[in-house]
Amino acid sequence: MTGTDVEASKMYISYNNIHQLCQEIAPKIKDFKPDLIIAIGGGGFIPARMLRSFLKEPGQPNVRIMAIILSLYEDIGTIGNTVEEVGTQVVRTQWIDYNQSKVDLVGKNVLIIDEVDDTRTTLHYAVSELKKDVQEQAKAQGADPSSTKFGVFVLHDKQKEKRADLPAEIMNTGNYFAARSVPDVWIAYPWESTDIVYHTKKALEQGN
Ligand code: G4P
Ligand code: MG
Repeated sequence: MTGTDVEASKMYISYNNIHQLCQEIAPKIKDFKPDLIIAIGGGGFIPARMLRSFLKEPGQPNVRIMAIILSLYEDIGTIGNTVEEVGTQVVRTQWIDYNQSKVDLVGKNVLIIDEVDDTRTTLHYAVSELKKDVQEQAKAQGADPSSTKFGVFVLHDKQKEKRADLPAEIMNTGNYFAARSVPDVWIAYPWESTDIVYHTKKALEQGN
């Protein structure tokens, strides 16, 4: 593809569109009854905050948002089929301080939010790392770790072969929420833009 083709195939998304996608998905997410939101940074932060406004119930506190950031490093030299086998290393750049925040994942409905499900690598690692924490917390309390339910919300799920998976307890239970299923094109999010007026104009031209 030439530079012009790449530009033409970009999917521009406006802030208003993201706000509306959050509004549209909110009733379904309310059925999941999230007790806690875990936003994966940076892309998950703004959608998480927007969604929270639509989850607010009168007389109830806002659903709490916690932030995590994962850094993935790939060991290209190793041969294998799955991401683990090729030696992807995951570093918790930013994580939940369970003691300071007094967050207890046991028995909770935990909604993980990211902007895009591309290769699924980040989401896979977020879920597996959080499940380790649940195991640890449940063990310390003599509780059942399966009392914690995980859900995932993304604005866009790219239709492509994924490099990692999500557990059946998320994918087969209706607890995977994608506002839009999209082809494998580059999505231009407004927070990345250095010319938001031009960006928004392009998004509106595309009906986004
Ligand atoms: P995953 O989120 O599905 O696991 O995808 P992967 O780890 O492969 O993505 C690497 C980075 O590329 C992620 O950002 C992801 O959000 C971003 N990305 C993937 N596809 C698109 C796209 O179409 N448009 C944009 N704008 N970004 C895309 P990151 O490194 O975590 O950065 P950030 O979340 O801090 O921005
Ligand atoms: Mg991201």
